[in-house]
Amino acid sequence: MRVVSVIAQKGGVGKTTTAMSLAAICSEASRTLLVDVDPQGSASWWAETVGDSLPFEFATEDDPGVLAQLRQSVADDFDVVIVDTPGSLEGRDVLSTVLANSDYVVIPTEPAPLAVQPLITTMNNIVIPSGVAYRVLLNKVDGRAPGMRDDAFSMLDAQGIQHFRASCRELRAHVYAPAAGQVVTQYAKDRYSIEAASEYRAVALEMFADWNVTVGKHTPLSVAAGKGTGK
Ligand SMILES: Nc1ncnc2c1ncn2[C@@H]1O[C@H](COP(=O)(O)OP(=O)(O)OP(=O)(O)O)[C@@H](O)[C@H]1O
Ligand SMILES: [Mg+2]
Repeated sequence: MRVVSVIAQKGGVGKTTTAMSLAAICSEASRTLLVDVDPQGSASWWAETVGDSLPFEFATEDDPGVLAQLRQSVADDFDVVIVDTPGSLEGRDVLSTVLANSDYVVIPTEPAPLAVQPLITTMNNIVIPSGVAYRVLLNKVDGRAPGMRDDAFSMLDAQGIQHFRASCRELRAHVYAPAAGQVVTQYAKDRYSIEAASEYRAVALEMFADWNVTVGKHTPLSVAAGKGTGK
């Protein structure tokens, strides 16, 4: 079992969207649990709107400190546990508790330089010294300005900070999904959302590759790999 925490030093960068979407994709190939440790409860509300169609298990925990016990109690039942964390992790205690109980950390950020620069500081001061495997995920990428994504990659590369090669574009479907009661694999297949699931599949494939996990031959994840969407 691997515990994957979605963290950021900034609010509103897409932690909950990433956690819910990655959980939906992982559930195509793995027994997946999403744990909401954010008192704001956005993921819990989203999970409620999806209801019985939610393709993964869901739990709410008020205190990130319970992650240690949780890890032991669900180890035999799940392959992947995704943790959605509070809006701002300025508080080092919360961040260090989450890091201490994670096997892998995903750090979403918007690609704008003013978002990436402080992220680099947090990475160098807190995340990298913790020794936990991680990757930064560029989210809300403007499809009409791919240069900004490439510049963000260059800023991260210059500092030796690991990032997913895949990124997630700013798509309207992600904004409507919680109220519509859908996770990324259930979005309408219109031109605004058709790419949403494949972007997260590409992210998941990189994560699985980091773990040296081979996904089953007939799962949607391996179909995505065959189509070369893991750019
Ligand atoms: N790729 C995306 N495309 C379009 N909108 C997005 C994308 N990712 C996130 N959003 C939107 O941005 C807003 C913030 O996203 P989200 O709630 O996932 O961020 P968060 O980091 O969890 O926020 P908080 O810090 O409040 O917990 C939401 O309205 C969400 O729908
Ligand atoms: Mg959130």
